[in-house]
Amino acid sequence: MGVKPNEILREAQILFLEDVSYSWKAGIKALDHCSFSIPGPGLWMLVGANGSGKSTLFRLISGIIRPQSGQINCSFKSALVLQNPDHHLLLPSCGSDLMLSVPSGLSAFQRNKIINFVLNQVGLQNMADRPIHTLSGGQKQRLSLAGALASNANLLLLDEPTALLDPLSQRSILEIVRKISRKSNDQPITALWITHRLEELTYCDGAVIMDKGRIGQWLSGEQVIRKLK
Ligand SMILES: Nc1ncnc2c1ncn2[C@@H]1O[C@H](COP(=O)(O)OP(=O)(O)O)[C@@H](O)[C@H]1O
Ligand SMILES: [Mg+2]
Repeated sequence: MGVKPNEILREAQILFLEDVSYSWKAGIKALDHCSFSIPGPGLWMLVGANGSGKSTLFRLISGIIRPQSGQINCSFKSALVLQNPDHHLLLPSCGSDLMLSVPSGLSAFQRNKIINFVLNQVGLQNMADRPIHTLSGGQKQRLSLAGALASNANLLLLDEPTALLDPLSQRSILEIVRKISRKSNDQPITALWITHRLEELTYCDGAVIMDKGRIGQWLSGEQVIRKLK
């Protein structure tokens, strides 16, 4: 009956920024006393003008850079998915590339099981042996997403993942991420998605606007569309 305390601990992942500032160049703040937190599992979107600090925020969350002031508390294991999958994919076949992302210390059987599972999650089932250069742009982006999932990340940081894709591939990535981040899933992923494309906001559980290094309050996707139109 009820939830055991260790289950509560396992569920309660946090991402919390408090008064974080970061400058790449003296005098110009990419993040300016920025506070932000994620409400829970789901698909959350972040919009904002070029240069408002969105990609810097992702670098801070993933630990590539550290805040110059303020605090970040992040218990998630994060993985970045960038605009251009060619910047991620390194090895010749889908399976060999994914192998790079699978946590070490597993048996060959377990590694192959994870690879087949994530290929299936992104609609690339039975494609472990496919050479990467034969994939379409949309398939390559789905493979990047599979790499993030194979790494056992529970927070996906997607930085304009559909910017280079045609509408059909765009929709397929949106639907995959929405599906794996659904709160009703057994182990839902938390996804934070940067976009310029307002129509994508209809897929999210909530959205925020970033402006000059600061993030506003959580709104519905529709509210953000109305504000920005
Ligand atoms: N690697 C970098 N080196 C120097 N300046 C950077 C770097 N990345 C971002 N900036 C600067 O930080 C500010 C915020 O940029 P960025 O985080 O990329 O914004 P966005 O992703 O919203 O377009 C901009 O002034 C940009 O020029
Ligand atoms: Mg950016």
